[in-house]
Amino acid sequence: MEGDVVIIGAGLIGLALARELAQRGASVRVLDTGEPGHAASWAAAGMLAPSSEGLDGSFYELCSASLERYPAFAAELHAQTGLDVHLRREGFVSPAYDDAGLEFIEARAAEARARGLHARMLTTAQTLQLEPALAPVRAAVFFEHEASVDNRRLGRALRAAVECAGVRVDEGLPWVRVAATQRRVNGVETAQGFISAPVVVNAAGAWAGGIEGVPEHARVPVEPVKGQMLALAMPANLVRHTIYARHGTYLVPRDDGRLLVGATGERVGFDTRVTAAGVQRLLERALRIAPGLKDLALVETWAGLRPGTPDSLPYLGAGALEGYFLATGHLRNGVLLTPITAELVADAIEGRTPRISLAPYAPERVRAASNVAS
Ligand code: GLY
Repeated sequence: MEGDVVIIGAGLIGLALARELAQRGASVRVLDTGEPGHAASWAAAGMLAPSSEGLDGSFYELCSASLERYPAFAAELHAQTGLDVHLRREGFVSPAYDDAGLEFIEARAAEARARGLHARMLTTAQTLQLEPALAPVRAAVFFEHEASVDNRRLGRALRAAVECAGVRVDEGLPWVRVAATQRRVNGVETAQGFISAPVVVNAAGAWAGGIEGVPEHARVPVEPVKGQMLALAMPANLVRHTIYARHGTYLVPRDDGRLLVGATGERVGFDTRVTAAGVQRLLERALRIAPGLKDLALVETWAGLRPGTPDSLPYLGAGALEGYFLATGHLRNGVLLTPITAELVADAIEGRTPRISLAPYAPERVRAASNVAS
């Protein structure tokens, strides 16, 4: 079996890259050892929020460029598949409850304004008018440019889009192994046979650091960062905007009437259990933000693994082997970065200069940093 590109990982990043490459005329296969979309891509809250997440520098610019791409990305997927990914563009509200919180959101608002974005400070009354379910706040900032997407719907739409484009997705494989010399990749070995390919992309999310067959010098460290989440069934429009509180607690309304509450951030290996302490922490924080949520039905709990890197930046672009590329390590921003990752990594694979430099995300930086340290 032959192909131009084999992508390991059928999450949002792997599928979006497959779609992009197929649209550019490449022959692409996607392989996954699990059921596609049941890792971070499925577990995420789908927030598209570079300001609320407090990102800065070139990483902010990358995330912001991806946010700008989202309306067209969602529309293209709808046109290709008929599937609506429920992009919600009402904006984010970040509340403050005390002096420290106020200082924090004012700093975030000032950063956003310096970037030419609307970041409106709201009084207590204005906040409660916008979101009556919230506990009285000291003040809040309204980031009107931020959005959310239903990441599970996005996964289904991308899957349908790649299949329309003729990409074969093999899921549930017992194992995959990169076939490589010390210098270059030759393809991927699987339980079903060898797939010869000049280009192999590691888009394996939290599992990206452990892909077998990659020579030692081309490996990159990736650590799973567990996020526990839960969903409440809410009456229509009880919460209309995403509420993003300090310390990373958020309430994300979905068009299907669920209100997502997230998330923990735990470095506990590949453990995806939902724990009593995790649920307790989420509920305590959510009820502090909006006490009226206490009577809502708890309809789902889950946990997923974010792919963490030593400097919390993704690995994008060429790896240390000819034909080996990475598109992983997106940590808290994989859903947000999906469209721009697909575009820029496809450019790198094609040998074109991407419109945004991938230098800060070069997988080699990790090796360079460890050489300096040793
Ligand atoms: N992007 C939010 C989170 O990872 O929890």
